[in-house]
Amino acid sequence: MKIITAYQEFKDFRNSIESVSFVPTMGNLHNGHMALIDKAKSYDSHVVASIFINPLQFNDASDFNNYPKSIDDDIAILSEHGCDSLFIPDSSILEDIEEIKAPDKALYLCGMNRPGHFDGVLTIVNKLFKIIKPSRSFFGKKDFQQLTLISNFVKENNLPIEIISVDTVREQNGLAMSSRNNRLSESDREKASKLYKTLNVIKENSYNLSYELINKHKDELIQQGFVVDYLSACSPDSLKNLEDFNSRPILVAIAASISGIRLIDNILID
Ligand code: PAF
Repeated sequence: MKIITAYQEFKDFRNSIESVSFVPTMGNLHNGHMALIDKAKSYDSHVVASIFINPLQFNDASDFNNYPKSIDDDIAILSEHGCDSLFIPDSSILEDIEEIKAPDKALYLCGMNRPGHFDGVLTIVNKLFKIIKPSRSFFGKKDFQQLTLISNFVKENNLPIEIISVDTVREQNGLAMSSRNNRLSESDREKASKLYKTLNVIKENSYNLSYELINKHKDELIQQGFVVDYLSACSPDSLKNLEDFNSRPILVAIAASISGIRLIDNILID
């Protein structure tokens, strides 16, 4: 696997390859990321991954500083999965960066308590797309709002990039894989599986869906020690809370913290 850290070197290297399948990451890679790489490998093109912990998308300095780093393991796992190139830019990638303002959809769900988060995501992804010039790029459905905003951004700006979504990979107990899971204690990791169980119970009761039902589940999670940022039944398109519970499809999305570690997950009801 070729590793490139200099921005100009990547630009030169890019001229020597044809079609690129791109997987942007912030490192601390796990099987969720590997599902993106494996999917990228299924296309006949050069697979590029990037690792950059993007300060623009963190609201909290300590969250940014504590973001887990495991570069040697990341390189090993990417090589094992046949990733062709890895781009690890330094902070100079942020110089003269074009600031992207995310649309109103960014204000719901994860954007409610994280102002500017999706501006930061779109700003760095746009910059990476400009450098890497991929034909397609891969994003996980766990970050549904991010996936939606990036797909919309690409469409609205007529970028010649296909955005490919990949199913959430889960631990055996159902917990969605995330770089943050490493920071959970054994017992919190077990407790955290309650998030996906809750989403499934809501899905099973989708014909009796109401705000009372959603709030009941929210209260249960709070009683079990979660700090719930949101538990929302919304339109997967507008991301706005549902007015009509009979409409389909429905996205049920959650963000909650356990012992200060914020986790997100979602489920789609067709
Ligand atoms: O999902 C992530 O890891 C990040 O938000 C991304 C897309 C790499 C942008 O920094």
